[in-house]
Amino acid sequence: MTDLKKKKTGKRGPDRAKFTDEIEKLLADPNIQKMARFGQHRGNNTLDHVVSVAWVSFDMAEELGWEIDEKSLARGAILHDYYLYDIKQMGISDYEHGVGHPGRALKNARTLFNLSRKEENIILSHMWPLTLFHPPRSKEAILVTLADKYCAGNEMVLHRNRLGKRGREAKKLKQHDETA
Ligand SMILES: [Fe+2]
Ligand SMILES: [Fe+2]
Repeated sequence: MTDLKKKKTGKRGPDRAKFTDEIEKLLADPNIQKMARFGQHRGNNTLDHVVSVAWVSFDMAEELGWEIDEKSLARGAILHDYYLYDIKQMGISDYEHGVGHPGRALKNARTLFNLSRKEENIILSHMWPLTLFHPPRSKEAILVTLADKYCAGNEMVLHRNRLGKRGREAKKLKQHDETA
């Protein structure tokens, strides 16, 4: 958020350093890296996708000047597709995957982290309105469900996983992790 915007809105906005720190911690976990094994949206892997969703969510919060829980946004965004299976090998329809994978992601994520109710809702609601009975219940969940649709659109239609500066930033974080 620009200084001018800060003065205009009087809002602090999200803390980029705190968010980056949370993302780095998550990407350092080999269990999180497992998502790189599973494809998603035309050649992208799931890890690339969730990192994109995380940064798009953060960018939107920054643009809007929303004060958010950086840790919950990072954890919810990175874990929202932690379902760890190949859709084709599972032999399920797109609809079955669409409605079922948030629950599967949550179940898997619970084995790694002690998630807050907010974080659980971010994961469960990210396909809303497809998952009608699990609507987003926080600013963080709204950001992730919007960012997920935006990123999926980019990945499927434009065949790229991020646009501009944040994409390069996300890639740098990933490379840093791979060489560590
Ligand atoms: Fe998803
Ligand atoms: Fe997703």
